[in-house]
Amino acid sequence: MKNVLLFCDPGIDDSIAIMYALLHPDINLVGVVSGYGNVDKKQATNNVAYLMDLANQKGIPIIGGATRSCTGEAPIYYPEIHGEDGLGPIRPPDTIKGELLNFSEVFKVIERHSDVFVVDVGRNTSLAVAMILDNEFQKKVKGFYVMGGAFLVPGNVTEAAEANFYGDPIASNFVMSEIDNVYSVPLNVTNKAIVKHEHILAIQDQSSSALISILDEVYDYYYEAYKKLVPGIQGAPLHDVVSLSLLMNPGMGQFLTRRVSVQSIGAARGQSLANFRVGSEAPIEGEEDLTKANIYLSLDYDAFIKDFIKIMSKQS
Ligand code: RIB
Ligand code: CA
Repeated sequence: MKNVLLFCDPGIDDSIAIMYALLHPDINLVGVVSGYGNVDKKQATNNVAYLMDLANQKGIPIIGGATRSCTGEAPIYYPEIHGEDGLGPIRPPDTIKGELLNFSEVFKVIERHSDVFVVDVGRNTSLAVAMILDNEFQKKVKGFYVMGGAFLVPGNVTEAAEANFYGDPIASNFVMSEIDNVYSVPLNVTNKAIVKHEHILAIQDQSSSALISILDEVYDYYYEAYKKLVPGIQGAPLHDVVSLSLLMNPGMGQFLTRRVSVQSIGAARGQSLANFRVGSEAPIEGEEDLTKANIYLSLDYDAFIKDFIKIMSKQS
């Protein structure tokens, strides 16, 4: 059993990651930190509360995360990909409102449970704030999985940048260059995590869970958006769930360990850089003690799909 504290901004693929976490028999979801990103913080929180309600999960703390980036700018939302309210065509009932716990609950959750893994599938602002508030935070967490970045491949919001790192490049640079037990889950692997309509139908065929009853509607909205972005695409890349799937199946992909930096200005804003040149695995003089990230660069697609269908088909 792995204890997971999830930082997210649901968002369609975040919501599907939450479903996966709630349904996984070996994940103990110890808390969810909801912040701005795909939608604003309030909507993200209501979406988390709605998913918890569908899953009949009443005891999992929902913790209030950040409302905007360390750059100080007003956030940009993406209704064309995630829908006006973050769940495609679905609007959570007005009667369900997320009751937010104060951010200090993050530290209480870490104290309360041993060996907690932090999985961050949104903008990295809230995670950076946790690290700033508590200098020892990194040491108290067993491991970090961060969905973000694009190494030597095109970005998805600009030619250089992936959306999470673009949204708050200052926080992402801090997180990626300061945490020494971080697993980076960039577009290099998540773009390959294409879930097809037939996979969703197979899951819904096997499941009677209320949580899964909305899966086709949210997926279809997201897939339609991706068809416009990538003509001919055969399904939709479910970026966020890959981090959880790799946490539970670390051998499902391969990673290289490198120093990472995230650029924050100009055309390179949000771009993630690491040195993959021949010989770059050897320690660089003067940089031996610098923190390095484990960057996933390949994914066993068949194993991912098999795991995704298996977990999503479980009864809640
Ligand atoms: O680039 C993919 C990421 O951006 C995912 O976390 C998705 O939810 C979007 O915000
Ligand atoms: Ca996300």
